[in-house]
Amino acid sequence: MGEIRPHSRLIGRRLILRRVKELARQIEQDYQGKHPLLLGALKGSFVFLADLVRQLRMPVEVDFIGAASYGHRTASSGEVNIYHEPRLPIGGRHVILVEDIVDTGATLAQVVRYLQGKKPASLRICALLRKMKPGQHEVEVHYLGFQVPDQFLVGYGLDCQEQFRHLPDIWTVKGVEP
Ligand code: IMP
Ligand code: MG
Repeated sequence: MGEIRPHSRLIGRRLILRRVKELARQIEQDYQGKHPLLLGALKGSFVFLADLVRQLRMPVEVDFIGAASYGHRTASSGEVNIYHEPRLPIGGRHVILVEDIVDTGATLAQVVRYLQGKKPASLRICALLRKMKPGQHEVEVHYLGFQVPDQFLVGYGLDCQEQFRHLPDIWTVKGVEP
């Protein structure tokens, strides 16, 4: 494997922000009179979540959940564990799980099962990106930013071996074996 570096800009910061604003308008409409709990999936969602909450003109609470596929590989392994539980109670809350990217959907499927077990009043998923690929777990994403090709992406919170989360745009990378 060669040196990993951003290769081409797939989604620019202005387009991202425009889409985030649209998602915020949808969420405001759907949660009128409610006080949802936005649960950011660590770590990749932190930039998206920060932008999203600042576009919401409604009271929300924020917490985080840590769920990870095992290993440091760029291909998702299918096994997931919850390494950080939310600190706020989930029971009876209107929960919006905020994800950076749905790849195989294995992480999401596992987290949804875990959260359903906590008996939220409702549970919806907001993901910035979803890869178009066959065999993806069938998890409904209620609020989706962009469908993206099945390539490894970095920036705007997404990492490759913990690098490139800080980049304001979303990039494809070179030097990664799928
Ligand atoms: P899944 O379980 O295969 O859907 O993988 C989901 C998680 O893997 C995401 O929440 C990301 O943390 C990570 N991931 C999947 N694809 C990418 C990518 O292209 N870039 C960065 N992280 C990714
Ligand atoms: Mg993630």
